[in-house]
Amino acid sequence: MLLRALTSSLALALPIAAQQIYDIWSTTWQRDYLFTYTNLSPNPINFVTPGSTGTSDIVVTDSNVYQDIAGFGAALSDSSAKILSELKSTNSDTYWDLLNYLFDPTDGADAAGFSYLRVPLGASDFSDTVYSFDDTSGDTPLNDFNINAAPSYLYEVLQDILSINNILKIHVVPWSPPGWMKDGGSMLGGKLWTSLADVYANYLLKCLQGYQSMGIPVWAIGIQNEPQNSNPTYPTCTIDAYWEGQIGLQLRTLMDNNGFSDVIIIGYEHNWDDAGAYPVDLMEDAGSAFAGVSFHCYAGTVSDQETFYNAYPNKNIYFTECSGTFGSDWWSDIKWYMNNVFIGSVNYWSQSGAMWNLVLNGEGGPKLPGTNSCSGDPCRGVVTVNSNGTYNYNQEFYAIAQANKAILPKDTGGPFGQRIQVAVNGNQNLLVGAYVTGRTDPTAWLRYSIVVLNQNDESNGSWDPVDIEATIEFRGQQATYTFPVGVTTLWWYAEPQ
Ligand SMILES: *[C@@H]1O[C@H](CO)[C@@H](O)[C@H](O)[C@H]1NC(C)=O
Ligand SMILES: *[C@@H]1O[C@H](CO)[C@@H](O)[C@H](O)[C@H]1NC(C)=O
Repeated sequence: MLLRALTSSLALALPIAAQQIYDIWSTTWQRDYLFTYTNLSPNPINFVTPGSTGTSDIVVTDSNVYQDIAGFGAALSDSSAKILSELKSTNSDTYWDLLNYLFDPTDGADAAGFSYLRVPLGASDFSDTVYSFDDTSGDTPLNDFNINAAPSYLYEVLQDILSINNILKIHVVPWSPPGWMKDGGSMLGGKLWTSLADVYANYLLKCLQGYQSMGIPVWAIGIQNEPQNSNPTYPTCTIDAYWEGQIGLQLRTLMDNNGFSDVIIIGYEHNWDDAGAYPVDLMEDAGSAFAGVSFHCYAGTVSDQETFYNAYPNKNIYFTECSGTFGSDWWSDIKWYMNNVFIGSVNYWSQSGAMWNLVLNGEGGPKLPGTNSCSGDPCRGVVTVNSNGTYNYNQEFYAIAQANKAILPKDTGGPFGQRIQVAVNGNQNLLVGAYVTGRTDPTAWLRYSIVVLNQNDESNGSWDPVDIEATIEFRGQQATYTFPVGVTTLWWYAEPQ
């Protein structure tokens, strides 16, 4: 009896094991660290009884949990797939190294584990030719629908990526309906004939069935990329909010009746600046069909997402496209991407963040012959792969990787991260995103991650990058870390509460 009482009081007297930071991923402005991993074992940073606060004080409030994160990544255009497929034939080891570094989601892997991939359905401005999956004029029963109208290298590369990452969220969306469904008879610009809206809904169902037949699981489908853009030099199509809604409602029913009830439909898929109009109208007309809407970066500002959020707080927001261009400054780009997409967009309720082409060559190609897309400074891929087989990871890669690492599942089969509340006091040159990642074992400690941009690079009005010694407040305890100018992702574990 006595022994038993003693043991239990001893157990009670033991301090609760404290949170510790072991794992840090860093990218610095001067590029001496490029998504570089540091493991602090055997000298982790301990959370301790709070002392004075640092230059910046990061306050993480884990009791306020916000949106689920779907993932961060880019788009596999036909051009990206073509370059990767050519690399596979000329240098298969390099190809697999590249795909593994981009997509391996395994906890602890030295890899970015991109978790979101957008794929055009049919031709885009980054294809060799203009094609849809049914180019037989007037084929309203879609008898000639053929998923193999897309180049075989697209499916080959997708299947290779899935062999590395089977939790990838694949979001498919057409750049245009087949030309014969439109007023100009061509995929290049113009409008959908509204009398063919039901045929187009069937076409989209067949796209899902085609992907299924290829063994490629689809997570989300869109009705039309950039539905307010008509450009006669590449596949584009205008569809107004009312008709996008009508197509969405029909497609939702078709999907539910054909085994795709788990696949979500994402609407709008265009710029921030119209956040209060088209996407709001779409939800008013046909909200039941859509999980939410997605935004691109080419007009407006990220805070416009709040306008949509305020109108429809229960609908999801995704950020799905932005492109870098050659000639810009590496560190300025990193700052922009973190401020506007990979931390900023999430802080305005987005569940994803993504760039446009995953891979392009050093000239920003190959592009669709004759297109005026990216005709100023060429568009830059997340990775540049040259025809001689050399390649490099561009600034877009580091922005995506630093964000994505924070939200990947900790456990095989476990959930992705969820955004939690974070605030910064003191020096405001830190921008922070914070996440909790659940566990498959409900008693296992949760992972708490922060992604921190230190943009303290001109403290006295001119170029002067200065580290920030910051404190991190969490559940009444405090850790201290000096953030270099750049992006830092770090995490700790804590008991579920
Ligand atoms: C490969 O091509 C790129 C781009 O043209 C060039 O900068 C690089 O020097 C080439 N490397 C080799 C080893 O030929
Ligand atoms: C910048 O200005 C602050 C405040 O006036 C000063 O303390 C600091 O030494 C300056 N830093 C540099 C590098 O000049």
